[in-house]
Amino acid sequence: MRRALLVIAALLIATAGGVYAWATRHPVIEALAAPPDPRRFDAALVERGETLTALGYCEVCHTRPGGQPFAGGLPLPTPFGTIYSTNITPDPETGIGRWSEEAFRRAMHEGIDRQGRHLYPVFPYDHFTRVTDEDVRAIYAYLMRQRAVRYASPRNELSFPFDQRITLAGWNLLFFKPGRFVPDPSKDETWNRGAYLAEGLAHCGSCHTPRNALGGLDDTRKFAGGDVEGWHGTALDGSSPAPLPWTAEAMLDYLFDGRHGSHGIAAGPMTPVVNMMENQAEEDVEAIAAYVASFQSGRRANREAVAAAAEERQLTAASVAALQVDASLQPGRDIFVRSCINCHRKGEKAAPLALTSTVNGPDPRNVIQIVLHGIRPPKGARDFSMPASAWMSDQDLVNITRFVRAQFSDKGPWPNLEQAVREVRAAPKH
Ligand code: HEC
Ligand code: HEC
Ligand code: HEC
Repeated sequence: MRRALLVIAALLIATAGGVYAWATRHPVIEALAAPPDPRRFDAALVERGETLTALGYCEVCHTRPGGQPFAGGLPLPTPFGTIYSTNITPDPETGIGRWSEEAFRRAMHEGIDRQGRHLYPVFPYDHFTRVTDEDVRAIYAYLMRQRAVRYASPRNELSFPFDQRITLAGWNLLFFKPGRFVPDPSKDETWNRGAYLAEGLAHCGSCHTPRNALGGLDDTRKFAGGDVEGWHGTALDGSSPAPLPWTAEAMLDYLFDGRHGSHGIAAGPMTPVVNMMENQAEEDVEAIAAYVASFQSGRRANREAVAAAAEERQLTAASVAALQVDASLQPGRDIFVRSCINCHRKGEKAAPLALTSTVNGPDPRNVIQIVLHGIRPPKGARDFSMPASAWMSDQDLVNITRFVRAQFSDKGPWPNLEQAVREVRAAPKH
């Protein structure tokens, strides 16, 4: 039913989009005769481009497992089908070697390729549109200095009408607000620098802001929690489930170290985000932390009481065995005794589970993801790994998740864990 509605909505948008697209069609930008001479770009520009390219996770999305950097081919699942990232090395035939800087800038700012076709917004041009021309130039210079790789990515696997790029004209009309970043004069320089980076290249909102049924970001609920590849992008605004409200200092440590002792670890799609922070200037990461943390500056908590209550919920080998739980929690408790207590007990280095958003959030999928796939720790937290429990059946996953929630959170049981387990199983592994 939801799907039928989506198709009808998309068809309507496609029709309106078609008219609109015709009225605002985009010209082809002439191909260069040959890729620009890489020596043309000065070293300082290329170096800045390298930092900015890392901040935009261009390589993360434009490299398939086992493939050459930037050569594309990574499948990106969307509710409408699979889209493959493209080759953005300077190869003249299969890459962007013959794209002028103007064509590259148009792609970044408007989501239009060199031939004038619409690009799908999985390529986050709805954020990159905020990036200054100078920063786009530096990224272009850096990419043109990469080794050209000959590789054509597979065709997208999208169902009708989403396979028609023309529908994107309608999507843009509804959801895309093009334009460079505009500072807020009522805020200080650090906040504005953070906003520029977080809203633009680092596109934090693309995973942390909710989207509507057609994939448009709901900017009226910025950072209220999003959805990404079978994970829940935790809310970072006033509705954050973190028992201890995030401060700018805690977020700075988390972004640099990949974890924080009162919040836990970065996992899944958040891992590449924290991993690239070490390449960024310290004041830029500080600015991002200050900006993002400002969204929950209104939250209040008695920090000592919260920390003490979380400590209270910590288990020991003896206490977990003696725990009186009702029948529905028994199987999960037994798994915890066998497979978890060694690392998740009082006095161990892992942050108390009761302090984490993972366990206190509205969505159980992050716990299921972490238990099923384990944690490959971020670069800044090498000693904090957790083994995968790929052996678990769906029922085991339901049981352990139910127990973890009941033991470490007072938020009440998650409904429909079976469905959440199916969604996690269907999602690509990180
Ligand atoms: C979340 C994943 C993701 C990230 C991050 C990302 N891209 Fe992409 N990009 C894509 C996908 C997918 C496409 C193909 C879209 C399509 O087929 O319409 C694409 C297309 C492009 C294109 C158009 C190329 C062509 O041949 O049409 C350019 C240029 C590009 N990306 C550059 C970048 C740069 C530069 C960055 C970093 C600042 C970046 N991308 C970050 C996913 C991503
Ligand atoms: C070999 C040690 C080890 C085992 C066994 C282990 N974990 Fe973990 N787990 C960790 C570490 C280390 C972290 C990261 C904690 C941190 O950074 O503070 C973690 C993190 C987690 C998190 C995410 C918390 C956060 O930081 O957001 C959850 C949930 C979790 N573990 C549940 C489990 C469950 C359930 C089991 C048993 C099925 C289990 N773990 C078994 C070591 C382990
Ligand atoms: C590709 C998707 C993605 C992007 C981009 C992204 N995040 Fe995340 N983030 C996640 C997911 C998924 C989680 C939940 C898993 C976890 O806790 O690591 C998360 C967790 C977090 C947390 C922990 C929240 C809590 O209460 O425990 C913070 C803080 C955070 N992200 C900040 C940021 C900031 C700042 C940016 C931009 C610089 C950003 N994220 C960009 C996906 C993303």
